[in-house]
Amino acid sequence: MDQVRIGVIGLGNMGSVHVSYMDSIDGGALSAVCDANPAAADRVAQRFPNVAKFTTYEAMLASGTCDAILIATPHYQHPLITDAAFAKNLHVLCEKPVAVRVSDARKTNALHAKHPNLKYALMFQTRTNPLYLKIKQIIDDGELGEISRITWIATNWFRTWTYFALGGWRGTWAGEGGGVLINQNPHNLDLMQWLPGMMPERITAIASLGKHHPIEVEDELSAILEYPNGAIGHFVTGTGEYPGTDRLEIAGDRGRLVCERNTLKFYQTRKGVREVRERSKEAFAHIETWEIDIPIPTANPESHKTVTQNFVNAILKNEPLIAPGEDGVRGLEIGNAMLMAGVTRQAVTLPMDAAAFDELLKDLEKKHGGKKKVAAPPVDAVVDMNASFKKA
Ligand SMILES: NC(=O)c1ccc[n+]([C@@H]2O[C@H](COP(=O)([O-])OP(=O)(O)OC[C@H]3O[C@@H](n4cnc5c(N)ncnc54)[C@H](O)[C@@H]3O)[C@@H](O)[C@H]2O)c1
Repeated sequence: MDQVRIGVIGLGNMGSVHVSYMDSIDGGALSAVCDANPAAADRVAQRFPNVAKFTTYEAMLASGTCDAILIATPHYQHPLITDAAFAKNLHVLCEKPVAVRVSDARKTNALHAKHPNLKYALMFQTRTNPLYLKIKQIIDDGELGEISRITWIATNWFRTWTYFALGGWRGTWAGEGGGVLINQNPHNLDLMQWLPGMMPERITAIASLGKHHPIEVEDELSAILEYPNGAIGHFVTGTGEYPGTDRLEIAGDRGRLVCERNTLKFYQTRKGVREVRERSKEAFAHIETWEIDIPIPTANPESHKTVTQNFVNAILKNEPLIAPGEDGVRGLEIGNAMLMAGVTRQAVTLPMDAAAFDELLKDLEKKHGGKKKVAAPPVDAVVDMNASFKKA
């Protein structure tokens, strides 16, 4: 194969973005589009008359028009479509989150293990951000020393009531399977384990359902994570606060990294903190610390395209994937555990009981289903949501 024929499933906000750059992917070509809404499929098909058009993913997968698919539908369908694509011998690039429930992600990973010839990747474009790549490099190279604390205040996800009115599936248990954790935070939650290179083993949390919006799901959450080496994590998020904060602090034995507003500072201690704490003869010791502004290249404005190019390169040239599909279960499990801990106010240990989480979701849907009460949005708001497609 010297060209990968790619079908995009789901042509809303994100699917439209993916379609817009697909023909500039080296070794890739848009061959088919699919949306359950015929008007969305028509809109895209008019721009690409040579591309096959479908209104069900089953028909697209069976059509023989694709070697690979990119899934950009609402969350619940991600594992369903991924599993169906593997059965048709198709490579898969899936939008985040990999699934809503950790049980589904584990099943998909097990299924993929039976199809090792197929590439399975995730749209975790944040992993290509030079800021996070630099943090990972500093941690992996041992310059920060053993990690003792990870604190992320991620309240920069302000959303209006109109936002939730725009997609009927948004803000509901049945449609979305959660709120700020499953929709806005999959990238952050991925980094909470990808950056330190370890999963937490216990999570406690407080979650608020529909606190700032008339929706069914969580729109505010604070969690404490315990990592196996004794490091502590904090994660604070929500869609109600403005102006929000996006501040990540990682403390280690050789100082502290602070990442805020696209800048990275390293407060680097000249000696190991533990050594001074345990051996210093002084009661109130000072450790010489250098405040270093770490230069960060400008963020890649085409990060989604970078991940798609990597996926195609993986199929054609066996290039290692930026985000293998298998990785998706990790951040998802952290999110599922935070939600469970936050709603039940009980600590959750990881690996978590996936069946118990499935029961909790059913219960939440039963208790809160139908509580979303958001009026239809004004027409100009709908247009804004599709701005990226119109510009492309
Ligand atoms: N990577 C990122 O930065 C990023 C950013 C935004 C959204 N996303 C993800 O992209 C996905 C889609 O989000 P969105 O904002 O584009 O949603 P959206 O509501 O704008 O679009 C979803 C589209 O999927 C279509 N659809 C629904 N069920 C379908 C089915 N069974 N078959 C085919 N089409 C179907 C809908 O008609 C709609 O057009 C979500 O999983 C979301 O989390 C990722």
